[in-house]
Amino acid sequence: MSKPIRKVVFPVAGLGTRFLPATKSVPKELLPVVDRPLIQYAVDEAKEAGIEHFIFVTGRGKTAIADYFDHAYELEQTLASKGNTDALKMLTDMRPPAGAASFLRQQEPAGLGHAVWCARDLVGNEPFAVILADELLKSSPGCLAQMVEAYNETQGNVVGLLDVPPEHTDRYGVIKPGTRNGKIIEIEDMVEKPKPEDAPSTLVMVGRYILQPTIFDHLSRQDRGAGGEIQLTDAMARLIGKEPFHGLEFDGVRFDCGNKVGFMAANVAYALERDDMADELRDFLRTVV
Ligand code: G1P
Repeated sequence: MSKPIRKVVFPVAGLGTRFLPATKSVPKELLPVVDRPLIQYAVDEAKEAGIEHFIFVTGRGKTAIADYFDHAYELEQTLASKGNTDALKMLTDMRPPAGAASFLRQQEPAGLGHAVWCARDLVGNEPFAVILADELLKSSPGCLAQMVEAYNETQGNVVGLLDVPPEHTDRYGVIKPGTRNGKIIEIEDMVEKPKPEDAPSTLVMVGRYILQPTIFDHLSRQDRGAGGEIQLTDAMARLIGKEPFHGLEFDGVRFDCGNKVGFMAANVAYALERDDMADELRDFLRTVV
């Protein structure tokens, strides 16, 4: 029986420079797709996968994220006095239970590997998940839930995978695939942001990870990799061959909300599924496209 995945790490310290000036004072993770911030989708995906503890690795200027997941007494009282029970219920449902969220700071922008390593004491000696909130993955069940199911079969480490056009490999961590069993692919190697001519495949990691705590030993070496940053991909590559390591080609649609077109596309796609706005939006889109 595999150890359950109870904890998730959200690295949310990034500066969000691609969304300036909006992200000058609003963390990019709080930018809304329709009316829910990106980080809310990530938390919902984690909850659906059975996660019980939510660890946010934040940075300076990101206190709004902790506030977002807290009570908002004035607002709640006003809603209560107006009898707006729907909005009150929404605010209750979105909050992690008391004591189930932790916030810590990555003091320097030293890379994704460093951000995950910052959470080592809170994670402790158990397998855990990592979700990058700017990758919005639309699927049912959610990507992490699909991965937990795969993990229950494979044990070890599991990453979410997606096939991309060859010219995009230098934006992502790319894996070298081994044996395939349906959607589950054994991973033989991985490399961060290779040029198309050097890429071992076109299967890239989509910002969802289930990792064993041994990853922290490798991250603690603090080696710098692509872009001069401490890369999670490099530490994971060192686990391959020592522990089971698989990828799951997830079933669903992916929006890279770290870039503006992906973010706009996500807004349109999610809005078109909402009964309260789909018809009006579709009519508008027909007039402009
Ligand atoms: C990070 C990871 C990369 C992964 C990507 C997914 O890159 O380092 O391996 O494929 O997220 O979005 P970043 O987007 O932080 O440059």
